[in-house]
Amino acid sequence: MTHLRVAIDGPAGAGKSTVAKKVAEKLGLIYIDTGAMYRAVTWKAIKSGIPPTDEKKITQLASSIHISFQSSDNQQKVYADGVDVTEQIRSAEVTGNVSKISAIPGVRARLVELQREMAQTRGVVMDGRDIGTFVLPDAEVKIFLTASLEERARRRTEELSNKGIQADPVEILKSIARRDEMDSTRDLAPLKKADDARIIDTTGLSIPEVVDRIVTICHDYIGTN
Ligand code: DC
Repeated sequence: MTHLRVAIDGPAGAGKSTVAKKVAEKLGLIYIDTGAMYRAVTWKAIKSGIPPTDEKKITQLASSIHISFQSSDNQQKVYADGVDVTEQIRSAEVTGNVSKISAIPGVRARLVELQREMAQTRGVVMDGRDIGTFVLPDAEVKIFLTASLEERARRRTEELSNKGIQADPVEILKSIARRDEMDSTRDLAPLKKADDARIIDTTGLSIPEVVDRIVTICHDYIGTN
């Protein structure tokens, strides 16, 4: 069980990180949020004043940045070069630029290398866009989590509102659709369901229901292997 690798992929706002974190807790595995890693590189590029079009400088930045995760009190914190960027990587500015940065081949090569290292010696639940297809093609359990665009936009609007941020639901929907389009059509490791992934459409399902389904799939795997 300790070396079980669970890959959870899907479009923006499908609930991947919330669900992946809980699945990891239930199974005693490490949770790795790969989107946060692309966001950390984006945050650093913005902070350093490097435009998203400067692929060379951003690739250099990605090869030297130190990204780490630390769990405390039921929350996972993300550090970039020693700075706690957990909140800052969720800003509208980072979200608006992350798809461009994550399409840069040098950035992907470096982060994929780090992600594979993280999963080498321990069991993980890793969420992202290309985990089942590219990062961990041999993962024991692969899930493709999805939900309707309207449902995903509604959830994101609610999440922001819970943080005291009032956002226009129509703008949120457009921004999610834009990100889906860029993430699915880029040349390298685009968002795509792995042939052997199980699809879970979370529209109308509660978080505990989705978590239970995935944990059951993992137990079934463990029981038969
Ligand atoms: O999951 P998220 O919204 O935090 O991801 C942010 C962006 O990072 C997403 O729009 C595409 C990119 N990403 C990626 O290209 N590959 C991954 N494995 C994870 C995220």
